[in-house]
Amino acid sequence: MINITSKLPSVGTTIFTVMADLLAQYPDVVGLSQGAPNFMLAPEMIDDVHRAMQAGHNQYAPMIGLESLRQRMVDKIEKLYGHRYDLENEITIMPSASEAIYASIAGLVHSGDEVIYFEPGFDSYAPIVRLQGAKPVAVELLAPDFAIDWERVKQLINEKTRMIILNSPHNPTGRILTEDDITALKELTKDTDMIILSDEVYEHMVFDGEIHRSMSRYPELAERSIVITSFGKTYQVTGWRVGCCVAPANLMEQVRLVHQFLMFSANTPIQYALAEVLLKPEYYLTLNRIFETKRNILREGLAASRFDVLPCRGGFFQLVRFNHFNSGSDMEMVKHLIADIGVGGIPTGAFYAEPKDTGLIRFTFARDDETLRKAAERLKRV
Ligand SMILES: Cc1ncc(COP(=O)(O)O)c(C=O)c1O
Repeated sequence: MINITSKLPSVGTTIFTVMADLLAQYPDVVGLSQGAPNFMLAPEMIDDVHRAMQAGHNQYAPMIGLESLRQRMVDKIEKLYGHRYDLENEITIMPSASEAIYASIAGLVHSGDEVIYFEPGFDSYAPIVRLQGAKPVAVELLAPDFAIDWERVKQLINEKTRMIILNSPHNPTGRILTEDDITALKELTKDTDMIILSDEVYEHMVFDGEIHRSMSRYPELAERSIVITSFGKTYQVTGWRVGCCVAPANLMEQVRLVHQFLMFSANTPIQYALAEVLLKPEYYLTLNRIFETKRNILREGLAASRFDVLPCRGGFFQLVRFNHFNSGSDMEMVKHLIADIGVGGIPTGAFYAEPKDTGLIRFTFARDDETLRKAAERLKRV
């Protein structure tokens, strides 16, 4: 046996894999764990992929992405958020939002830098920062509204702070950035060299008549932001692994230097199919309403349960509180729900670098309506 030293000693297998393995032991469980939809709103994309393959589009795509797909994305972003990114230098199609996050951090964060991020939050940010020899600095979001404490953020910023990572709509809390957040962010970043990494993979799932506050909307923020989106989340094809990132040319240049040595390019026939489906804006424009309806089905079903249903303004996820009637850990509660109630969820404590007990479970509502009703019915038995 050779000696090795882990580069991520405190990180185990991600909670999503742990839960998937656990769920596999209970085939009758209604799984509301992973944010991977069990439906597809544009199934014709499958034929489009097939057609692209038959037409011979089976070799490497350009490193920066297929031109037609980039073109339609820059048009779409301009129409939605009013900012026009340059087709050649400011947009890259990536093999997943996950890779875009990695390439952005690896490309722009140096050893010794600090990166501010929020907890609970998506689990990849802090480990990727650590892999660069940099320091992830967590700011906790507190239940029930999980608002950002900008005073706290201000206290943590120093000359080493290189990046702040935002995610709106937020996984797992369902919070979205408000106008006040944008004002605070402009104030804090003004006259600094701080980069914003804005994870906007749930940009099309914003509810209650709210708007998505993309960094692309605000010129002072767009000039320092890398905005990351996911075709997987938008078109319910998370397994196809295609994402996108836009940024000013000086930032994008550095992100691409890493991307070219990671995967180099994204899946070719799938990029053709995505370019095709982008000609039908009705798909992404109706997602807010479709997912709001799904959120409501789950919330209304849970209203008659013992769970406390927390606010949810966007995204794929609903948090519920259980610690007023059960003193078990997050993990014990999830295991109980799986084994005895027949519903899978994710312990919210897993969304912290140091896992802890929050008394909250995360359920996804990215499911067909019948599945959501069935899950809610079962959860009433808790
Ligand atoms: C907040 C957030 N960012 C990024 C991702 C990863 O997206 P992709 O599947 O395109 O890699 C996810 C997936 O769950 C997510 O929830």
